[in-house]
Amino acid sequence: MKRIGIALLWIIFVILITGCNQKPKIGFLMDSLNNERWKKDKELFVQKVEELGGTAIVEIANTDPEKQILQAQEMIDQDIDVLVVVPVDLQKAAEIVKLAHRNYVPVISYDRLIKDCNLDYYISTDNIHVGELQANYLTKISPQGKYALISGPKSDYNAYLLHLGWMNILQPLIDKGDIEIVVDEFSNFWLPDEAFRIMNAYLKTSDQVDAIICGNDALASGVIIALKDAHKEGTVLLAGQDANIQAVRNIVAGNQTITIYKPIEALAFAAANAAMKIADGEAPSNMNITVNNGKRLVPAILLEASVVNRQNIKMTVISEGFMGESEVFN
Ligand code: GAL
Repeated sequence: MKRIGIALLWIIFVILITGCNQKPKIGFLMDSLNNERWKKDKELFVQKVEELGGTAIVEIANTDPEKQILQAQEMIDQDIDVLVVVPVDLQKAAEIVKLAHRNYVPVISYDRLIKDCNLDYYISTDNIHVGELQANYLTKISPQGKYALISGPKSDYNAYLLHLGWMNILQPLIDKGDIEIVVDEFSNFWLPDEAFRIMNAYLKTSDQVDAIICGNDALASGVIIALKDAHKEGTVLLAGQDANIQAVRNIVAGNQTITIYKPIEALAFAAANAAMKIADGEAPSNMNITVNNGKRLVPAILLEASVVNRQNIKMTVISEGFMGESEVFN
């Protein structure tokens, strides 16, 4: 009898010890790694979660929203404590939030907002401001002329926010009759081919364009090819976003005017920190703003981005270690 008692006590002790030592499990669902920046997001996020004593599980949906929902279910089945999501589709990802909540797993929307659901937290850049930075820069150089706008896909809420930022700056100039919008299209994917197709179609009908604003650098790179085909490279103002290495090289070469540098490290670390705090049963810090996702005011962190132009490359992306000097200039 005494032996059974000791054995039981031992079992309880082992269960308690292993239970207490279990690392928090953080799921990170990503859209795709097509774009250079996401590899950095992934690496930095995993690094920070592990540094804080957690385990990160990452899955990539390769731009398939249904696959992302299945991946969410698989992660929930693996008993994750918190789910961080870069949604493929702003609406369809609401299903992920529902699945997670049914299993008491809180969800953080990363970079892109998940719309119309009871999302717990949102960590991103101020995307309207990013759009304003782009339009502001180009309109300072060319306050009059013909502008083309190439947005990302409608499945990504950031595409709308950027467009909103562009129009905040452009609308007064359009109303004055100084600026005319000659192209205003959303692409199907954040890919160069899409922007090439859109810009190439326009350039076949007219060579009149003074400035082009793109949702990101991948789109801008497609525009550069279309401009080259039309023998117009380097003669049109061009804004992108993400500070991709090739975009920064294009800026040096004079084929792109600016890109936007988003603080990827701060973003990934903020999300990892928040996830680990939530997993520990605490409230995440620095959620000092709320963003309306159509259903609720979601507590959020919105970081600031900055412009990279030909003059400040060394003072921005290089001095912050985002890329090496030799990578850019060789
Ligand atoms: C957006 C993001 C951009 C860009 C794009 C393509 O949601 O805000 O920085 O990377 O996705 O992946």
